[in-house]
Amino acid sequence: MIIIRKIQKMQDFSRKARIKRQSIGLVPTMGALHEGHLSLIRQARKENDLVIVSIFVNPAQFGPKEDFRKYPRSLARDAQLCRKEKVDVIFHPDAKEMYALNHKTYVSVSGLSDCLCARSRPGHFKGVATVVAKLFNIVQPYVAYFGQKDAQQSVIIKRMAQDLNFALKIKVMPTVRHKDGLALSSRNAYLSKQQRKDAVVLSQALKFAELLIKGGLRDANRIIERMRQRIQRKNSAKIEYVSIVDLDELMPVKRITRDCLVALAVRVGETRLIDNIIVCPKN
Ligand code: PAJ
Repeated sequence: MIIIRKIQKMQDFSRKARIKRQSIGLVPTMGALHEGHLSLIRQARKENDLVIVSIFVNPAQFGPKEDFRKYPRSLARDAQLCRKEKVDVIFHPDAKEMYALNHKTYVSVSGLSDCLCARSRPGHFKGVATVVAKLFNIVQPYVAYFGQKDAQQSVIIKRMAQDLNFALKIKVMPTVRHKDGLALSSRNAYLSKQQRKDAVVLSQALKFAELLIKGGLRDANRIIERMRQRIQRKNSAKIEYVSIVDLDELMPVKRITRDCLVALAVRVGETRLIDNIIVCPKN
């Protein structure tokens, strides 16, 4: 496994691989790898000749009051994990390499970037779409892998790839969870013992919504209200949003008649956590 830090070198590597007709699977990450990331890497390993994992804590997607500085960074450990998963290349540029001083071009996916998480994180998805577009151009993958955990991000990236004609496939893999249901996230490391216990309420509320929908309840607002009540029972939990939206446009639905995305963001103490499930009302 090699670690590449320069864009030019990464592009040369990928160009040579393409000439040899080797397929490249890209897994974009911000590091602090956990089993969620590893599930994407394993899928990439199964399906491609070469697996490239990018590790870059992207300043453009953090707001001024967010955790860019304290976001966990652990390259040595990440590299060890990648080696174990037989990753071929870690692409690990620094911020100066990715954003030259005169960088002026940004990608924004309108509509999809105004709802759900975007309300409290203005500019976040512009930062995500921009860095992912850059990574696609630098790494030139055949397939790029993303997690359902960040549902809105996956929808935005799919739309961007389609609208801007990136010649690649996007695969979205299921959310990996702890035994008690909490979705794995690098930010779980910020939680105290008690907060970690309380954080289970996110996945519990989603399971509860699924139960209500499967049980025949179709009124989205009533389901949301029941979920909110459940979350509010935890002292450390502050709801940012609980929404039920359609899968393509992420627009709120009133009556649940087809597959929908139930998504939420909750602050547990100071830590902002997100989770979601897709629920099919039919079976
Ligand atoms: P990061 O939070 O490091 O996540 C990298 C990828 O891992 C994303 O596609 C995310 O959805 C996926 N992932 C995270 N937790 C997961 C879990 N519990 N189960 C399955 N997949 C999970 O998302 C980002 O980085 C950045 O925004 C990035 C796309 C790299 C752009 O900077």
